[in-house]
Amino acid sequence: MIFETVATGGCRSYVIGCEDSCAAALIDPELSQIDRYIALTAKHGLRIRYLIDTHTHADHFSATQQLARRLDVPVVMHRASPAPFVDLRLQGGELLVVGRLRLQAMHTPGHTRDSMCLCVEDRVFTGDTLLIGATGRTDLPSGDAAELHASLFEGLLKLDPALKVYPAHEYKGRSHSTIGQELADNPRLQKRDAGAFIEMMQNLNLTMPTHITEALRTNMSGGKTVAQMLAEAAANVPFMSLLELKNCLESRKGELTVLDVRERDAYEAGHIPGAQLLPRGQLELRVNEELTNPTSRILVCCEFGRVSTLATATLRQMGFTGAVALDGGIKAWREAGYPLQSGKQP
Ligand SMILES: [Fe+2]
Repeated sequence: MIFETVATGGCRSYVIGCEDSCAAALIDPELSQIDRYIALTAKHGLRIRYLIDTHTHADHFSATQQLARRLDVPVVMHRASPAPFVDLRLQGGELLVVGRLRLQAMHTPGHTRDSMCLCVEDRVFTGDTLLIGATGRTDLPSGDAAELHASLFEGLLKLDPALKVYPAHEYKGRSHSTIGQELADNPRLQKRDAGAFIEMMQNLNLTMPTHITEALRTNMSGGKTVAQMLAEAAANVPFMSLLELKNCLESRKGELTVLDVRERDAYEAGHIPGAQLLPRGQLELRVNEELTNPTSRILVCCEFGRVSTLATATLRQMGFTGAVALDGGIKAWREAGYPLQSGKQP
C-alpha cells in the first residue's frame, strides 16, 4: 500500500494507492491542494481512480469535482449526499476496488446525514465521524447527535481495536490513532449512554466554521468559490504594475484609457488622474457608449484589484483585447503616495 497524508491547516486528505496496479484513491481532497495531489501521485507513479468525499464538508472547499473533470474519474460519496455531481453513490457495506485494495464503505450518519467511513486493510478513514480525541460536531446542517451515537457505538467502535484511525481533521499534528486508543482515551466517547452523549453534543456551543455558507453552497452544488472565480479571471488577463501605470501617465506615451469600475462616490472621492468612470454593475450595459474603440488600450482599476480583474476578463471576452487590470488597486496606489484627483468626471 502506498499512503500519503496531505494536511491543509487542520484538514486532512489521504492518497491511498496499490503498488501492484498503480491505481489510487484520493480521500477528502481540498481545493487549494490540487497541484500537490497530482504531483504526489505522479511521484509515486500512481493513477487516481476515485475521488472520495467522506461527507458534505462545511468547513473547507472540496476539490473532488474539479479533479474529476481534470482526471476524468468519478466522484464518490454516500448515496445520501445532496451534491448533483456525484458519479458513484455508495451504500454501507459496498466496496471500491482500487487495484488489489478494497475500500469498504460504512454509513456513519451523525456529523452529517451522508457521512461514511472507509475501511481498508489495517486502517479506517473516519471523516468527521471520529477524530483523534474528539468527534465531529452534530450542530451543522443534517447533523444529528443520536445518529452519531449509534454510528459510533453500534458501528465504528465495534471494529477491530487495532484498526488505525485516520480522520478528516487533526489540529495537533498527530498522524493517526487506533479504535482501541479512542475508546480508552477520547473524552467524548466516555459518555456511552445515548442520553448523556446527546446532551453533551448539544451543549458544545461551538462557533460556526468560517466560510460555512460558501463551503456548503459550493460543496453541495458543484458551484465555484469566489477565490476560484477570481483565479480563473486572473489567469486570462494581463496586469500592469502601479509603477508602470505611473510612468505611463507621466510620459503620456501612447493612448491609455484608465477605466475606474468603482461606484461614483468612491470615484469622486479620489481617482487616478484622467480616469473614466464606469461602475462594474453597469459595465455590460454602458460599454458600447463608453468604450467605442475595441482595440484601444484600457487599464481597468478598482479599490482592491479584484473587481477590476473580473471586469477586465469581461471586457476581453467582449473583444476589448487591449484591456489590462491594475495589479494592486487604488488603495495600493493611494498608499504608494501616487497622485489622485477628486471631483466629478469632466
Ligand atoms: Fe465535516
